[in-house]
Amino acid sequence: MDPRLDLIYKRRSIRAFQDRPVEKENLTELLKAGMAAPSASNGQPWEFIVVTDPDRLTQLREVLVHGKYNAPAAIAVLANLSIAKKESSTRFWVQDCSAAVENILIAATGLGLGSVWIGAHPKEEVTKQIQDILKIPADIHVLSLIYVGYPAEEQPARTQYEEIRVHWQKY
Ligand SMILES: Cc1cc2nc3c(=O)[nH]c(=O)nc-3n(C[C@H](O)[C@H](O)[C@H](O)COP(=O)(O)O)c2cc1C
Repeated sequence: MDPRLDLIYKRRSIRAFQDRPVEKENLTELLKAGMAAPSASNGQPWEFIVVTDPDRLTQLREVLVHGKYNAPAAIAVLANLSIAKKESSTRFWVQDCSAAVENILIAATGLGLGSVWIGAHPKEEVTKQIQDILKIPADIHVLSLIYVGYPAEEQPARTQYEEIRVHWQKY
């Protein structure tokens, strides 16, 4: 693992968090990283909801079968095709918003924060639950949540490189 790519390898899913809030400046920095992501034709269909209100976080934890972690902050990653800058976002919003998610996860690592991607799309029940709790209008797509906080567990840096998955020149 090349140390120049440390942040990539150090990013691991963190599912246990300290009881310590994430500073607003750091949350804003995460959103800046998210909005630095590539998107099809630079369409930038993304919108974000930052949730730090304990009651609303509790509501999310209650419904999310795979998202019951004690993070002090969550970022919902959404696509709003009506404010996307290009028509191509209609087809590419999942990839566009996923690129934003990955940027946020890596940025969190760089800021000393832990994070985990909580998948919503294409699970209709999960997206509906998030939509209800966060009052998201029906015409806005919900890609995922990201839990963020200061980590209370450590996961080792790693790659999952497997030679068998790599083809050179042709399949
Ligand atoms: C689309 C997607 C959905 C995911 N959903 C969840 C989830 O609901 N709950 C969870 O704990 N982790 C979730 N994860 C995190 C994966 O479990 C994790 O990335 C994977 O096990 C590899 O571990 P690492 O992130 O530490 O490298 C999700 C990851 C992706 C990319």
